[in-house]
Amino acid sequence: MQAKVKATCTQCHNASRITEQHLSRQEWSTELDKMVALGAEVPDSDRAALLSYLTKNFGPEKSGKSGVKKSVSQTQ
Ligand code: HEC
Repeated sequence: MQAKVKATCTQCHNASRITEQHLSRQEWSTELDKMVALGAEVPDSDRAALLSYLTKNFGPEKSGKSGVKKSVSQTQ
């Protein structure tokens, strides 16, 4: 899913736009809608997995966890 996020979400902006956020699933959902409106291609079949990925890695509870910050931009 990381590769997919990278491919889908870094076409118009840097991945740091995403990694600097700490959003709830609901907020990421709103964000996805916004990106789709801007032209991002997020197939319905990918949406749930994408949301889970974003919420898990860049969700509000992350700061309290192990501190492992996954970067969409640098890791490969
Ligand atoms: C078609 C171009 C495009 C694609 C593809 C795209 N974005 Fe964006 N994104 C933008 C633009 C333009 C902004 C700046 C919007 C603004 O400043 O109001 C932005 C801003 C953001 C922001 C910053 C918060 C905000 O609302 O300004 C986040 C988070 C974000 N995008 C997430 C994503 C994610 C996740 C994906 C992949 C599903 C994605 N973007 C794909 C165009 C895109």
